[in-house]
Amino acid sequence: MSDVTMEKIISLAKRRGFVYPGSEIYGGLSGTWDYGPLGVELKNNVKQLWWRTMVQERDDMLGIDAAILMNAEVWKASGHVEGFSDPLVECVKCKRRFRADQVGDTCPECSGAFGGVRQFNMMFKTQVGAVPENEAAAVYLRPETAGGIFVNFKNIVDSFHPKLPFGIAQIGKAFRNEIAPRDFVFRSREFEQMEIEYFVRPAEWEDFFEKWRGIQLQFAERIGLSPERIHQIEVAPADRAHYSKRSIDTEFDFPFGQKELWGLAYRSDFDLSAHTNASGTDLSYLDDAAKEKFLPHVIEPTFGLDRTILAIITSAYTEDELGPSSAEASEGKGEKRVYLKFPFAVAPIKAAIFPLLKNKPELVAKAREVYLALKNDVPQIMWDDNGNIGKRYRRQDEIGTPYCVTIDFDTLGENAELLDTVTVRDRDTGEQERIAIAELKARLF
Ligand code: GAP
Repeated sequence: MSDVTMEKIISLAKRRGFVYPGSEIYGGLSGTWDYGPLGVELKNNVKQLWWRTMVQERDDMLGIDAAILMNAEVWKASGHVEGFSDPLVECVKCKRRFRADQVGDTCPECSGAFGGVRQFNMMFKTQVGAVPENEAAAVYLRPETAGGIFVNFKNIVDSFHPKLPFGIAQIGKAFRNEIAPRDFVFRSREFEQMEIEYFVRPAEWEDFFEKWRGIQLQFAERIGLSPERIHQIEVAPADRAHYSKRSIDTEFDFPFGQKELWGLAYRSDFDLSAHTNASGTDLSYLDDAAKEKFLPHVIEPTFGLDRTILAIITSAYTEDELGPSSAEASEGKGEKRVYLKFPFAVAPIKAAIFPLLKNKPELVAKAREVYLALKNDVPQIMWDDNGNIGKRYRRQDEIGTPYCVTIDFDTLGENAELLDTVTVRDRDTGEQERIAIAELKARLF
């Protein structure tokens, strides 16, 4: 494992347009982050891969996209109004507030004493409707996407009649008024979740719990997370969420320590039962095969997208020196470099296309032709004619582009045998290969 630090990741993420601090020119807003042009591509690639693997490639899954604002009764029934809180302490001297489990006995700012511990509810509250504030209906921004899945359970069963076991998946924003947002996008106040509620017959929960545990590991491999940084940990009963009867966290060795990346919970019939009682709508399921009506039980694999992005960048971050066999090193250009070793599927840019020199119109015209033809099929490619070739390689390495394609004088036929061929340089090895333009698409993508 390379010794990547948070300083290196945050600086690269900002410099290269992956992630910026939220509202930066106004001094920022704690716990918010904005994804830049490369960050949004990376994030979209992960979401698409997740949706494809978890929903589209399976025939036991259905997707939804529910509203972020929900009737406040949803969160009363789910136990969040009552119990979704963290312990808070306030310094009697400077009045600063901290999460009780993250500080010692005295204030880290002024050494003052703390008052008693109280519970701080993490849901953001707002109002709906153009009425005076005190009369408006209070609602919450959803603290987990799961709520939208449970309240649509009956809609989905009525529209699609899925047979058990089946799952409902959703990707979307969640909001938590964290007492102490920290560690870049790891703990923020607005973040994205990719969640599945998988409905099973009560007696079968253990089988499916194990299956989803395995699927989470497979997904980690698919997006390039270093296997030696992944740990699946049984959560002690006292530390489980209020709705869970068993939980396994997938933890990851982030630069600031081993911390929760994803969760897996056995939510039993906690939610369907609570929503049946509170809404008065019967959410039980009629099992045609067994001729029984019952509340299915739920296995919930949940994937925080922002933590996933941080884990992908941490795993991909590599510092090395191009080896003596690489063409660049043998030309005397072997130098230390930083690169992101993204798997092809998540790389924000799949290839960069360069004219060798930007002041030769015939090279630029040919390179433009290659670029436009490829871009039609592979939109995530980039044109780059800034600085010399070495600088372009370093820049593309730093954003994790797997291939750099250079159009040079041989492409134009200076060496007749090489007419209509280009050099393709591999990000990880620095090796260059000559490939016919006609073969580029099939060879690279
Ligand atoms: N529906 C279950 C649920 O929300 P959770 O463990 O509270 O469970 C699920 O959250 C995932 O959401 C976490 O594993 C983590 O990846 C992500 N997550 C939770 N709080 C977060 C925060 N403040 N900032 C970024 N990601 C967060």
